Amino acid sequence: MSLSTINKITVLGSGVMGHGIAQVSAMAGYSVVLRDIEQSFLDKAMEKIKWSLSKLVEKQKLSQADADKIFARITPIVDLKQALRGADLLIEAVPEEMSLKKKVYTEVDSFAEVKTLYASNTSTLPITEMAALTSRPDRFIGLHFFNPPQLMPLVEVIPGGKTNNSMVDMAMGFVQKVGKQPVLCKKDVAGFIVNRVFIPLVHEAVFCQERDNVPMTTIDSAVKFRMSFPMGIFELADYTGLDVVHKATVEMHSRDSKVIRPHPKIKQLFDEKSLGQKTGKGFYEYKGDKYERINLTEQEASRYNPIAVLAVAANNAAWLISNGVCSKQDLEKALKLGMGLKKELFATVQDFGASNVVKTLRDLAARHGPFYEPDQYLVNYRG
Ligand code: 3HC
Repeated sequence: MSLSTINKITVLGSGVMGHGIAQVSAMAGYSVVLRDIEQSFLDKAMEKIKWSLSKLVEKQKLSQADADKIFARITPIVDLKQALRGADLLIEAVPEEMSLKKKVYTEVDSFAEVKTLYASNTSTLPITEMAALTSRPDRFIGLHFFNPPQLMPLVEVIPGGKTNNSMVDMAMGFVQKVGKQPVLCKKDVAGFIVNRVFIPLVHEAVFCQERDNVPMTTIDSAVKFRMSFPMGIFELADYTGLDVVHKATVEMHSRDSKVIRPHPKIKQLFDEKSLGQKTGKGFYEYKGDKYERINLTEQEASRYNPIAVLAVAANNAAWLISNGVCSKQDLEKALKLGMGLKKELFATVQDFGASNVVKTLRDLAARHGPFYEPDQYLVNYRG
């Protein structure tokens, strides 16, 4: 198997991630089939692709003629058998539930041609376990894009226990071909690299809000202006979708309870169908389901010290490094490209003082338990 044999791509699932992956693949010249279970989902996805392409034209990143050609390379299809015909690479981006993935892979396996390579855009589910559901665990890999795939330059590449080395090479090459930068996640751990840092932060931000009794916009402003994030945490959770955050939480926590301290508010918002921007309400309220930002200011940021949020991010980041999931360099690269951090996380730790960060974790551990116990890498961190 090699990159040169990949011409036709089938993307399963046309939601936030699926439609974006289809678009970036078409932008790289691939012929793409976008598949979902209902025509109305596909119509909405194709509208979103049209909007995104028009934005890129508006910003002079594409000509209108190229945008039209890219759009024409994407064929929306409901029928699975037809959607898989001739596919060289399948990228699955269906909702994050193992029972659903099982159903999907069983069906896919009954139609896919022998040559079709499998990639899952899962953000949290174990690659080895999913690969084992298929007839080709050696040709199965995790390709984790970030939201919005059109703008975020990172793709995490996660081999499963039986993934062939040539499949890993193909995946790394494919990511570059679609104009993204790959980071290899060396171990199939809960949350891989970026979500191991991001998802627990959403919960911690809610705990901070309760403990310190401050408005969400104050915490979000502090995260944006004092921790160099491009968005606040509540804003990012709404933007990502509370359904995605909730499902990632459940999966990650069930795989490794040390990784997350779940706050019930996330499940509550999920149960209420307050899923964030896409439903017009999540932590914040929105005018519609279009791209919208929360007004965050430096002045508000000066009213709050986000050290507990930073400490939780740094502690999970430290865990990844001390457990050999990635190097510090790859961790910083992943956070910069996958979450848009404008400054290295550990440089921000130094700004706040590594010993203050460790002390914050120890104080929290004394009050709220072992989730906060500082990782040895962080304890020893001297910059
Ligand atoms: N396609 C094309 N253009 C788009 C777009 C899309 N899909 N989405 C937004 N844009 C446009 C906006 O409309 C805006 O255009 P405008 O200037 O005409 O209004 C432009 O991009 C830039 O937007 P902003 O001015 O709001 O500015 P930013 O500089 O903050 O960039 C961002 C936006 C890239 C989204 C940035 O805020 C960012 O990096 N945010 C963090 C996102 C993040 O962390 N993603 C990862 C989440 S975790 C994840 O996905 C994993 C999953 O498994 C859970």
